[in-house]
Amino acid sequence: MCHNRAAGPSRRAFARFLAAGSGLAAATACSPGAPPLPAAAPPAPVASTAAAAEAPTATEAATTPPPGPAATDEAATPAPATGVPASAPPGKQHSLVDPASPWVIVNKRRPLIPAAFEPADLVQPRIRLASAGAAALLNSTTAAAAEEMFAAAAADGITMTLASGYRSYATQTATYANYVNTRGQVEADTASARPGYSEHQTGWSFDIGDGSGACGFMPCFAKQPSAAWAAASGHRFGFVVRYPWMFHGTTGYYYEPWHLRFIGVEAATDMKNRGVDTLEEYFGLDAAPAYP
Ligand code: DAL
Ligand code: ZN
Repeated sequence: MCHNRAAGPSRRAFARFLAAGSGLAAATACSPGAPPLPAAAPPAPVASTAAAAEAPTATEAATTPPPGPAATDEAATPAPATGVPASAPPGKQHSLVDPASPWVIVNKRRPLIPAAFEPADLVQPRIRLASAGAAALLNSTTAAAAEEMFAAAAADGITMTLASGYRSYATQTATYANYVNTRGQVEADTASARPGYSEHQTGWSFDIGDGSGACGFMPCFAKQPSAAWAAASGHRFGFVVRYPWMFHGTTGYYYEPWHLRFIGVEAATDMKNRGVDTLEEYFGLDAAPAYP
């Protein structure tokens, strides 16, 4: 089924992107079950098999983040800034602004506040790693959930790896700059967040691989068993696929079947049950297709 609702972009626009960006034939299908052909090859290889559009470069640039915007009233309340959610998310409510909140919404219209935020509780989960150093870290809540999810996947015969976890502001600066240098800014902005705008900086998100490198960081990864398993079962552990197929008009990024985001079991399960595809829609927020 096409996930191309009102907020979503046209299939033709996405096909044009794939054809233009990769030199490959345009996609003809539009569901995760029939993903498009692989998108562009990565801008630059990194140390591991995660030669990825969004994988960080090996070194961290010594950059100084700009001061973040002033906090808003929203920081103290989980109420959305705009729009009206279909119904209140179940369970304990959380801030949509505080980067330490599992519900923080980071997108092209909602930068991290402060821009240089660093999680206080980064840990290395006891799961199969395809990354090293800081990229193998997650915040403690996400790490615990990932350990449970990876164990459940393994019990189902699924190999899942942590391909890219935490990224500091400096790492995201280097990652984004590398992509811009390789592909140009327009294409970079469809795949890599600008520094201060990445979920990876919160510790609530990580990218998965399947241990083989097959379709790593490409749309065809959706057909790999680990991606299919995560899409079907990740909610049981609090995870959602943050950048779903055909919702770049809402999320600002093309399909990333490897990028999982922790929001808690209750909210992730509620999203799944209600058939809501994006966090923007779930929390009643504006679409964020581009930077202001
Ligand atoms: N690839 C996602 C959008 C990031 O760079 O955070
Ligand atoms: Zn990611």
